[in-house]
Amino acid sequence: MGYSASLYQVPAEDSAILPYDKPRAAEGRLVWQRYNCQSCHQLYGLGGYLGPDLTNVYSAPGKGEAWIRAVTASGNTLMPKYNFTEQEMEDLLVFLRATDHSGKADPRSFDILPNGMTRQK
Ligand code: HEC
Repeated sequence: MGYSASLYQVPAEDSAILPYDKPRAAEGRLVWQRYNCQSCHQLYGLGGYLGPDLTNVYSAPGKGEAWIRAVTASGNTLMPKYNFTEQEMEDLLVFLRATDHSGKADPRSFDILPNGMTRQK
């Protein structure tokens, strides 16, 4: 019961103050699925392991939007290049921004609290 009570003290995210557009993030998720990025990349540590985890690529130092645009447009030795429409690219960026906002992928960045919850270091 104490545990349930503690869960209710964590405020639900207010969608009015999210720093991204939710419907567009949903569109971006469809782009992510349509082009099967998940077969090589992980989000939150889950997915294929050929490429790196992209949960926080949006805010990673030296990466972010320009980097994501450049990599997807040019591809590399292991990754195909994509000819996204501008709409697809924009939606995908909103999706990756939303994913980045939702948490950190690296479990080492968390402490486990005595009550079983986690807290970002
Ligand atoms: C066939 C496997 C494959 C697919 C499919 C794939 N990627 Fe990649 N991607 C890679 C690999 C491998 C790398 C790392 C290459 C390197 O470091 O040289 C990479 C790198 C990236 C990077 C740079 C990451 C970083 O931290 O620098 C981004 C962004 C990216 N991919 C986005 C995407 C998106 C978006 C899709 C789907 C539209 C996608 N990839 C589909 C294999 C793939």
